[in-house]
Amino acid sequence: MKHCISNWLASITVLCCIVIARPSLQVLGELQQQAFRITPNDIEAHLGDEVVLRCEIERLAGRVQWTKDGFALGFSNEILGYPRFSLNQNHSTGVFNLRITNASVEDAASYQCQVGPAKHNQPIRAGAKLTVLGSTKGHHGIYHWN
Ligand SMILES: *[C@@H]1O[C@H](CO)[C@@H](O)[C@H](O)[C@H]1NC(C)=O
Ligand SMILES: *[C@@H]1O[C@H](CO)[C@@H](O)[C@H](O)[C@H]1NC(C)=O
Repeated sequence: MKHCISNWLASITVLCCIVIARPSLQVLGELQQQAFRITPNDIEAHLGDEVVLRCEIERLAGRVQWTKDGFALGFSNEILGYPRFSLNQNHSTGVFNLRITNASVEDAASYQCQVGPAKHNQPIRAGAKLTVLGSTKGHHGIYHWN
């Protein structure tokens, strides 16, 4: 009888361990997913400004690409058709900043840093809005409406 009880207690203990361990395993699974370390902020730029839309990823697994109003800008540092745009990317540090020089009105858009799916990793995306104000910084001419 005494033996039975201790067996029974042992089973309960094992069960408890499983119940307790399971959620922490789930947390571990989530921790291993690729995730943003830095997401881009909405930016208000002036004409001619240099703009950096920041995106940094931890445990990067998928491919990273920026989109402008849903249009994919590709994977290379130089972006075809966008001579003022460049990608400052480093796969080992997870840095994928989009740099725009000499900001122009046509750059105003919704941008997204998109990280593609990979084994055990969900795709993730983070967006920011770039507004380009129609005047250069400190300019007080006729077009200064800000
Ligand atoms: C990426 O970052 C690491 C660490 O800062 C650096 O050693 C490496 O040279 C960088 N790679 C590129 C392609 O810039
Ligand atoms: C910036 O862009 C404007 C047109 O939007 C152009 O007139 C000017 O020359 C450019 N400046 C530089 C430094 O490229």
